[in-house]
Amino acid sequence: MNTVLSVENLSTYFKTDKGIAKAVENVSFSLNKGEMLGLIGESGCGKTTVAQSILRLIEYPGKVVSGRVLLNGRDLIKASDKDLASMRWKEISVIPQSAMNALNPIFTIGDQIMESILIHENVSKREALKRTKTLLELVGIDGERWRSYPHEFSGGMKQRVAIAMALACNPKLVISDESTTGLDVLTQAQVIALIKNLQKKMDLSVILISHDLPMVTAICDKIAIMYAGNIVEWAPTEDILKNARHPYSQALLNASPDLGNPEKEVVSIPGSVPNLVNFPNSCRFHTRCPLAFDKCRQENPEFKEVRNGHYTACFLEGVGNHG
Ligand SMILES: Nc1ncnc2c1ncn2[C@@H]1O[C@H](COP(=O)(O)OP(=O)(O)OP(=O)(O)O)[C@@H](O)[C@H]1O
Ligand code: SF4
Ligand SMILES: [Mg+2]
Repeated sequence: MNTVLSVENLSTYFKTDKGIAKAVENVSFSLNKGEMLGLIGESGCGKTTVAQSILRLIEYPGKVVSGRVLLNGRDLIKASDKDLASMRWKEISVIPQSAMNALNPIFTIGDQIMESILIHENVSKREALKRTKTLLELVGIDGERWRSYPHEFSGGMKQRVAIAMALACNPKLVISDESTTGLDVLTQAQVIALIKNLQKKMDLSVILISHDLPMVTAICDKIAIMYAGNIVEWAPTEDILKNARHPYSQALLNASPDLGNPEKEVVSIPGSVPNLVNFPNSCRFHTRCPLAFDKCRQENPEFKEVRNGHYTACFLEGVGNHG
């Protein structure tokens, strides 16, 4: 397998008035070429912080305090600003949550896509325009519409333009952070299908961040489940669906509808994600876990491989089937 991204023991903290929020703690996972990973978990679990740490976009009062982020073997955390600038767009890019944040209303979409190409690659304007038209066609927009302004497009089309921009310099890895939020359900499904289609066609590695477990399990090769700053389970999608090991993963599955089984009873997870400021050393899920016992309140279980390619962090792992 050809590893594109390897995140090793990544921790990112935020300084607050009340203390340190350990928003991401000891997170490890990797991504192969052409693989799509779904990063999932409730709001506030640290998904965006992981993405921003990988992209080195964390700003004060936040800080990546430890860990490595190896993109094709090069550590992004240690890279110089110059190296980082050359890797963004060409090796790693983002589809933002809101296309409005990515598109400038006063320039045509063609000018904006061309600009990203011209800044990062040594090509003529003519070549950049040709590529812009191809990119637009790739995301299902008539190439001749490169002269249009963002306000001339619907929300879904703007999101397609944002995808075209993310792909402008042929990156190997694309991170999509809730990039369909705010769109109607049908348009969301179309945009997600487009991302999947492009991922296959271009052999891209994609991290798809979402709250939508049924959607993520339908299209991702692997799933990483985050809870309160930790990845608690990471495995091929099939293993998560058939044999989720962590009580939080099981609760998340029980709380999600099953498109193939409309009769399934959906059980919401009682309680909420804890405040991570000064959170004591313990399993972070212990306040909501129906199986918690004394040790869970005093130590955080190690995240380890329990079967081939299936990782989880729970003290009950290996002491019989708790599923
Ligand atoms: N600038 C900041 N200052 C203090 N804490 C922060 C800051 N940004 C994020 N956090 C904390 O980091 C934790 C993770 O936030 P993050 O935005 O990464 O979660 P998320 O999983 O992306 O949530 P959502 O699904 O709502 O987008 C939260 O507890 C949040 O309070
Ligand atoms: S370590 Fe304990 S509290 Fe944490 S998920 Fe496992 S059983 Fe529950
Ligand atoms: Mg987020």
